[in-house]
Amino acid sequence: RTTAVILAGGTGQRVGLSIPKQLLKIAGKAVIEHTLTTFEKADSIDDIIVLMAPGYVPDVEKIVAKAGLKKVAKVIEGGSTRNETTERAISALGEGLAEGEDRNVLFHDAVRPLLSERVIDDCVTALERYQAVDVAIPSADTIIVTRTHGEDGEFITEIPDRSRLRRGQTPQAFKLSTIRRAYEVAAGDPNFQATDDCSVVLKYLPDVPIHVVAGDEYNMKVTQPVDVFIADKLFQLASTAAPEQADEAAYRELLTGKTVVVFGG
Ligand code: CTP
Repeated sequence: RTTAVILAGGTGQRVGLSIPKQLLKIAGKAVIEHTLTTFEKADSIDDIIVLMAPGYVPDVEKIVAKAGLKKVAKVIEGGSTRNETTERAISALGEGLAEGEDRNVLFHDAVRPLLSERVIDDCVTALERYQAVDVAIPSADTIIVTRTHGEDGEFITEIPDRSRLRRGQTPQAFKLSTIRRAYEVAAGDPNFQATDDCSVVLKYLPDVPIHVVAGDEYNMKVTQPVDVFIADKLFQLASTAAPEQADEAAYRELLTGKTVVVFGG
């Protein structure tokens, strides 16, 4: 059995609107509706739970009802950090599990609405062999490591070999028993700090290999205001043609076309 967990507990401070960015309408639908619809359509997904920013659970329930999303089993409130939101999902999932029973879980950022079914399927297939799976793409930019020296500002300390660097996306996929164990060990660390779930497995269950499957450039995270514009353009392209077949006209439209972004729920 495979459950998709949609992490939507954030409020989108960097985008800076009065509503969480996952409720922003892009290409005619709320960001989270695009995300949920992709999981709803994926044959490899059995059910979906959503962890939403406190106060906005009814907004998601309305979207689910209106779009007729049948796989969404539960919409509950997220926690105050992304990791706390994951932990809440783990406890919610544990409730329905018999002794010795396990299942697959895919944690996905609600604000990556352009995820493809191919990536979902690759994660589920990888879980037949591995207990932990990440999704990543190569980095086009050179990544530098810096240190700040007081008022003099930042200085480079290291430039890692770019051919080995990847940019992590989501989903991050696990056997439920594995991710639960990782968080149990982490709970004993007073200095626990992480921003994603694979880093919890990497740090607290170092013997568990984390397999990496290829993500894609479309699977961007809406993080900064400019990303709203980019995501809108990518939806236009996606509706014109598959990414690899996008024709010249679509590209011209991408460069010159006007974007209409509708704010509000
Ligand atoms: N997330 C979550 N629970 C939190 C914080 C974040 O489920 N307490 C989710 C977000 O809703 C988002 C994903 O984690 O789908 C990626 O996080 P990020 O882009 O950092 O979202 P926000 O925290 O909303 O953004 P910001 O940091 O700009 O406030």
